[in-house]
Amino acid sequence: MEIPFNQPHQHGPELDYIRDAIQRAHLCGDGYYTKKCHELLAERTGAGKVLLVHSGTAALEMAALLIDCRPGDEIIMPSYTFVSTANAFVLRGGVPVFVDIRPDTQNIDETLIEAAITDRTRAICVVHYAGVACEMDAIMEIAERHRLYVIEDAAQGVGSCYRGRWLGSIGHLGCYSFHETKNVISGEGGALLVNDPSLMERAEIIREKGTNRARFFRGQVDKYTWVDVGSSYLPGEMTAAYLYAQLEHGQEINGERLKWWNMYHRALAPLEEQGVLRRPCIPEHCTHNAHMYYVL
Ligand SMILES: Cc1ncc(COP(=O)(O)O)c(C=O)c1O
Repeated sequence: MEIPFNQPHQHGPELDYIRDAIQRAHLCGDGYYTKKCHELLAERTGAGKVLLVHSGTAALEMAALLIDCRPGDEIIMPSYTFVSTANAFVLRGGVPVFVDIRPDTQNIDETLIEAAITDRTRAICVVHYAGVACEMDAIMEIAERHRLYVIEDAAQGVGSCYRGRWLGSIGHLGCYSFHETKNVISGEGGALLVNDPSLMERAEIIREKGTNRARFFRGQVDKYTWVDVGSSYLPGEMTAAYLYAQLEHGQEINGERLKWWNMYHRALAPLEEQGVLRRPCIPEHCTHNAHMYYVL
């Protein structure tokens, strides 16, 4: 029997919300459902600002623009990750500096980060593999000491926590993915969490093709204009409508996955005892979203 790699989850109200989005006759970005997603995600994560984007990759690309990644800037990241973590910075001329991973969580080994820092280092981009947190206290402390940005690639970590804090809300910037293979989905989709207040206004501008359109809609300027570099990172309203239905039930979706995750974990325990394989390790101070079950 073939086991599907992924089965997209449908919770129920997705079609109703999409129909409603169509009836509202505002199908481009930043309409009713995008705002609902922003509010819900900001409330749950505690992030200062949440901006929906069209993919996790787009969130990472926005992060690279926001930290002003320039040719030759070095970005520290784990040697084990998805291509977008590196590509986002390489597109700006940045140089990925790969640091080995921990044998337990498969996340960047925080004890090796400091040795990789040079005078060209601009940021540390951590990846919370399988939705299990990196050692954020140690990483934030290193970053503060060396005045580096921390970007959390939390593409796989929506709904997971580190010492009670949502992944994506701890570094200066956090990147979520809502790709079909994730827990909470919208086909393609993502979000940028802006936790550093000094980056918030520019994040809005970069997301809106380098214009101050968001300020215009808030009535802060009487016309909007081109003020910076940027691109079109907004998802349309039908995507946001689907996502909102999923986000509303995010906790239940993760809870259901956790049941299956625990089932595999229990069933594979004897094989680990026999030394045949190793099961995932969840540190005590982390709660996870059961994004994937892997074995070594
Ligand atoms: C660690 C990691 N970073 C980035 C991404 C990119 O997200 P998206 O597919 O939404 O562009 C993914 C998606 O698989 C991922 O797993």
